[in-house]
Amino acid sequence: MGGAFLTEGRPAPGVEAVGGGQVKLFSGNANRPLAEAIAKALGVRLGEAVVERFPDGEVRVRLQESIRGDDVYLIQPTAPPVNDNLMELLVLADAVRRSSAGRINAVIPYFGYARQDKQTQGREPITARLVAGLLEHVGIHRVITVDLHAPQIQGFFYHPVDELSAVRLFAEYLEGRGLTQDAVVVSPDSGRAEQARRLSERLNLPLAILAKRRTGPLETQVSYVIGDVAGKRPLIIDDIISTGGTIRRGVEALLAAGAAPEVVVMASHAVLVGNARENLAHPAIREVVFTDTIALSPDLGYTILPTAPLLAQAIRRVHTNQSVSVLI
Ligand code: R5P
Repeated sequence: MGGAFLTEGRPAPGVEAVGGGQVKLFSGNANRPLAEAIAKALGVRLGEAVVERFPDGEVRVRLQESIRGDDVYLIQPTAPPVNDNLMELLVLADAVRRSSAGRINAVIPYFGYARQDKQTQGREPITARLVAGLLEHVGIHRVITVDLHAPQIQGFFYHPVDELSAVRLFAEYLEGRGLTQDAVVVSPDSGRAEQARRLSERLNLPLAILAKRRTGPLETQVSYVIGDVAGKRPLIIDDIISTGGTIRRGVEALLAAGAAPEVVVMASHAVLVGNARENLAHPAIREVVFTDTIALSPDLGYTILPTAPLLAQAIRRVHTNQSVSVLI
């Protein structure tokens, strides 16, 4: 976004803020560089707060400035270590609520626990719903997030959820780098089909979907490839890369179906645990592209697309009571 629209948290002249309070941003420890980039894009500074640990590991928070009546945004992806980061967010929100903020918004660029969004067999929890309930319990009035694992998680909240998408960022990157020639957009499973369809329509490319079958609690297999990939360069889009197993199995299925061994892999959230590095080092993978919703070292050699401009625009629009759907 061009130039700062706020000065010291105050809206630009002629733009009325909801409730009249100032914008205040605070960050936990999950992704401070992203929080700083959002603050910079908005032309405000990050709020002063201590977010640390007591000697026994409990989270200790103290806000070091008044936020009475303000429109507060807590920036914290609930990425690994997911429980620590989630707890920091809850404790921060409690501090903000007890400090008489006007409104508490959580900017959760990566929403962890989202894959536990339903019971797949009896006697299981629905932990994504539990997390939504915890966030609302501590007074969060709105969530701004990017590419939820399942959009219906929006409905786990009573309050509004603005779900942004990285699809436009990926499309602009691919076009800018000329990576769309002879390509096919691939969804690695049916859950990503909608995101992949939007990317393929933006790029005017064909679409293929891999049928993924669960073979055990942590094991999946690709049973078949829906769509024509022969001789084409696959552009795989996923929401999360965790162990990278889904991607490795997907690449192998695509090669077996005759796709060119020049795969670009894109995912909104670089969870990257276990054997992810090895799985993403598959010889047919030319490039791996992530956003920075989860902090990621550039030394890993992956392409990282910044989300701060998008998240800053969302905050600006929420604060000034404008539509956020134009960003999606
Ligand atoms: C699954 O439905 C998700 O969209 C991702 O494909 C999955 O979570 C990735 O996990 P992993 O990298 O461990 O295969």
